[in-house]
Amino acid sequence: MITIIWSLCLFFCLSHSTLVLAKHLCLPDQRDALSEFKNEFYVYKLYSFMDDKKTETWRNNTDCCSWDGVLCDDKTGNVVELNLYGSELNGPLRSNSSLFRLQHLQSLKLGSNNISGILPDSIGNLKYLRDLDLPYCSLFGKIPSSLGNLSHLTTLALSDNDFTGELPDSMGHLNNLTELHLGWAMLNGKFPHLLLNLSSLMWIDLGSNQFKGMLPSNISSLSKLEVFDISDNSFSGTIPSSLFMIPSLFELNLGSNDFSGPLEFGNISSQSNLLKLDIGENNFYIVDFSIFLHFKLLEVLDLSGNHLKFSSTPHLLLPMIVYLDLSSCNISEFPKFLENQTSLQELDISANQIKGQIPEWLWRLPRLQVVNIAQNSFGGELTMLPNSIINTFIASDNQFSGEIPRAICELDNLGTLVLSNNNFSGSISRCFKNVNSSISILHLRNNSLSGIIPEEIINDGLRSLDVGGNLLSGKLPKSLINCTSLAFLNVENNRIKDKFPFWLSSLPNLQILVLRSNQFYGPIFSPGYSLSFPILRIFDISDNSFSGVLPSDYFVGWSVMSSFAIIYLNGLLPRDFLYDIHQRSVFLTVKGVERELVGSGYDIYKNFDVSGNRLEGYIPESIGLLKELIVLNMSNNAFTGHIPPSLSNLTNLESLDLSKNRLSGSIPTELGKLTFLEWMNFSYNKLEGPIPIATQIQSQNISSFAENPGLCGAPLLKKCGGEEEEAKKQEQDEDEKEEEDQVFNWVAAAVGYVPGLFCGLTIAYILTS
Ligand SMILES: *[C@@H]1O[C@H](CO)[C@@H](O)[C@H](O)[C@H]1NC(C)=O
Ligand SMILES: *[C@@H]1O[C@H](CO)[C@@H](O)[C@H](O)[C@H]1NC(C)=O
Ligand SMILES: *[C@@H]1O[C@H](CO)[C@@H](O)[C@H](O)[C@H]1NC(C)=O
Ligand SMILES: *[C@@H]1O[C@H](CO)[C@@H](O)[C@H](O)[C@H]1NC(C)=O
Ligand SMILES: *[C@@H]1O[C@H](CO)[C@@H](O)[C@H](O)[C@H]1NC(C)=O
Ligand SMILES: *[C@@H]1O[C@H](CO)[C@@H](O)[C@H](O)[C@H]1NC(C)=O
Ligand SMILES: *[C@@H]1O[C@H](CO)[C@@H](O)[C@H](O)[C@H]1NC(C)=O
Ligand SMILES: *[C@@H]1O[C@H](CO)[C@@H](O)[C@H](O)[C@H]1NC(C)=O
Ligand SMILES: *[C@@H]1O[C@H](CO)[C@@H](O)[C@H](O)[C@H]1NC(C)=O
Ligand SMILES: *[C@@H]1O[C@H](CO)[C@@H](O)[C@H](O)[C@H]1NC(C)=O
Ligand SMILES: *[C@@H]1O[C@H](CO)[C@@H](O)[C@H](O)[C@H]1NC(C)=O
Ligand SMILES: *[C@@H]1O[C@H](CO)[C@@H](O)[C@H](O)[C@H]1NC(C)=O
Repeated sequence: MITIIWSLCLFFCLSHSTLVLAKHLCLPDQRDALSEFKNEFYVYKLYSFMDDKKTETWRNNTDCCSWDGVLCDDKTGNVVELNLYGSELNGPLRSNSSLFRLQHLQSLKLGSNNISGILPDSIGNLKYLRDLDLPYCSLFGKIPSSLGNLSHLTTLALSDNDFTGELPDSMGHLNNLTELHLGWAMLNGKFPHLLLNLSSLMWIDLGSNQFKGMLPSNISSLSKLEVFDISDNSFSGTIPSSLFMIPSLFELNLGSNDFSGPLEFGNISSQSNLLKLDIGENNFYIVDFSIFLHFKLLEVLDLSGNHLKFSSTPHLLLPMIVYLDLSSCNISEFPKFLENQTSLQELDISANQIKGQIPEWLWRLPRLQVVNIAQNSFGGELTMLPNSIINTFIASDNQFSGEIPRAICELDNLGTLVLSNNNFSGSISRCFKNVNSSISILHLRNNSLSGIIPEEIINDGLRSLDVGGNLLSGKLPKSLINCTSLAFLNVENNRIKDKFPFWLSSLPNLQILVLRSNQFYGPIFSPGYSLSFPILRIFDISDNSFSGVLPSDYFVGWSVMSSFAIIYLNGLLPRDFLYDIHQRSVFLTVKGVERELVGSGYDIYKNFDVSGNRLEGYIPESIGLLKELIVLNMSNNAFTGHIPPSLSNLTNLESLDLSKNRLSGSIPTELGKLTFLEWMNFSYNKLEGPIPIATQIQSQNISSFAENPGLCGAPLLKKCGGEEEEAKKQEQDEDEKEEEDQVFNWVAAAVGYVPGLFCGLTIAYILTS
């Protein structure tokens, strides 16, 4: 009985005391430090896809141990963990920051914030830290040597900052460090030898920095190493064979360096556990391919960009290989050993010199899903065996001819087909006849395909369709209207004869629409459709026969062109195919010359090109809404009236072409405010009056103003008269009054549009990988 009472008492007393503890855990000095720390930063929404302002829950009158991102020690009440990852903090971390009063911190995670400035020495005062995570911030300068005092540190993650210089020697004391993440910074110098002292290290990431020199030969002293990533630096020499002796190593990433010489792995005594080996983009000579037989477990092998010779590899077998990259290896024959690589799922042998046909056995590899043979010299008819599980086939930039084999179109799992830049002929329809296509990326650009674009290729999952540069005729397939994922549509340089596809404007993900050089006709405005392309950013309908006028509110609703939003195609299309798109899918007329969009600029380009049509009437004032436009080309139409002064709101504009129209009045002086405007063309109009005196305008070539009888002043040689101008100006003022009513109408419409715009943008932000 007594024991029962005692137990009960014990139970109550204990639970009561924990209750009390839970209530009063937060220590006032720690709470104040946290509060003040929060106030050191400006909480600002950087990306709308992050909505994680943990500090919003931080109220002085609540227990700080219950605040989001804060963890206290149960017994002492000290704050031991602070995790404000991605919490929209903006501002520098100062050496007197209240953060450093949280003396008992064991884990500090502030990554993915805009924390700027130098990482202060005071970080070394947080002497109980085990985990220091500050990746994806804006820190710069040297890595402080005080880090060497953090002797309990096991994880140090400072990747994706702008740190420079060498690692401080003091880091050689971090004996318990197991993970070191220092990728994507600007560190330099030789391989940090001090790391060899840190025998607990399991993970080293020094990728994408500016290290150079040879790797130390005694690197095997890192006997617990599992992942070693030094890719994308300037390391040179050979790989010390001792690296391959480390039995725990399973991922080795040495790609994109200047390693050279014959590739050898020495005598690997014990079983290698390597799963991933990336030595791509170096200058190795790989003569004896059987060296890879050491790696019985290898799943990923990237040898791209090295020099391979296959003569001595009759029966190589990599029993576990899943991904093999042999691109840009100067291979001239299809590697025969692949015949027996039955676990292979992805093969990239693009950018070599392989001629002839694809061997039949390739299609019999039981697991093969992704094949990239682009940029070779394959030719003749493309043959393919049916019944495979291929989901991606990229064969662009070869010399295939004849029709696209039906076996391809009938592949059940085909998601990506890229056959651009070959000599395929015949109709697409024949290939896809009676096929329920599930293709999401179809690029057939620059072939000689004829006939219509068949409805069969259109499916709900379609994301990118590029059939530019063929002989296609007929209309755009109506079923595109159901392609809610469609981001990219390019049919340029064909013979398509159709009205403007108003119905496409309802597609929520359409970013790029290129109809240029076809036989499209009729108005690009219809009273029945409210034309709003929510995230369209490249609109090129040039060189067609579009006609009619544009209403004053034409540009209300083109949200992405009117607001700061970077929309990455990467989010919609897988990385591999960005290559194809980035390299050559869009040619734009920028600054008067046709050029290809390449690389990252592609993601931010915002372009409106209606040149070479028969559009007439006023240029709508609402064009001033497209504030983010970089290229505007309305040349070669029949536009009349004045150049709208609202153009001066397009502050990002780099290229403006209004030539070959019937524009009258003067060049608005406001255009002088467009400081990025490098290239402009007003020639062949009826413009008059003085050319505005602004640096950007004055620095243009004379030809930009040619054939406007009434224009005067520099850079033209014709001087301006006095009185004549005054009279003209009055005339203009009257005209402007007329246009004001027009302005009022679209402004009202724009205001009404705002909520929808917001919504569209939220959808539009797409996180890149
Ligand atoms: C909370 O406390 C901190 C530090 O004492 C102080 O700076 C801040 O103004 C307080 N906030 C509120 C809302 O009282
Ligand atoms: C990050 O913060 C710095 C100043 O601390 C500021 O200049 C910069 O604009 C911020 N970056 C972003 C993307 O907000
Ligand atoms: C920290 O130092 C900065 C100047 O470097 C100063 O403006 C700020 O008031 C100091 N903050 C505290 C809490 O002492
Ligand atoms: C490390 O700590 C010691 C004593 O606590 C101190 O004297 C030394 O300056 C610190 N080192 C660095 C690099 O901050
Ligand atoms: C290092 O790790 C070992 C084993 O986990 C541990 O016993 C030792 O206390 C740690 N040293 C420090 C300084 O944290
Ligand atoms: C290597 O670690 C030992 C302790 O294990 C330490 O005494 C020595 O100074 C370190 N060497 C370097 C170069 O940091
Ligand atoms: C590694 O070799 C260098 C000389 O190449 C030597 O200075 C260093 O002490 C060695 N480090 C270890 C940990 O063996
Ligand atoms: C590799 O091992 C073989 C025998 O196991 C031996 O003959 C050869 O000399 C060794 N090579 C090297 C570079 O150690
Ligand atoms: C593939 O394996 C078969 C049977 O196992 C063998 O006869 C053939 O020579 C191998 N091919 C290559 C290229 O190694
Ligand atoms: C590519 O291979 C050919 C012969 O196969 C050879 O003549 C040429 O030098 C090689 N090019 C490179 C860059 O290795
Ligand atoms: C779009 O999809 C709907 C519903 O699945 C269907 O009724 C309609 O016919 C489709 N429209 C076109 C043009 O294919
Ligand atoms: C241009 O921008 C100014 C200021 O942002 C605004 O008041 C004006 O209405 C805009 N005009 C047009 C035509 O967009």
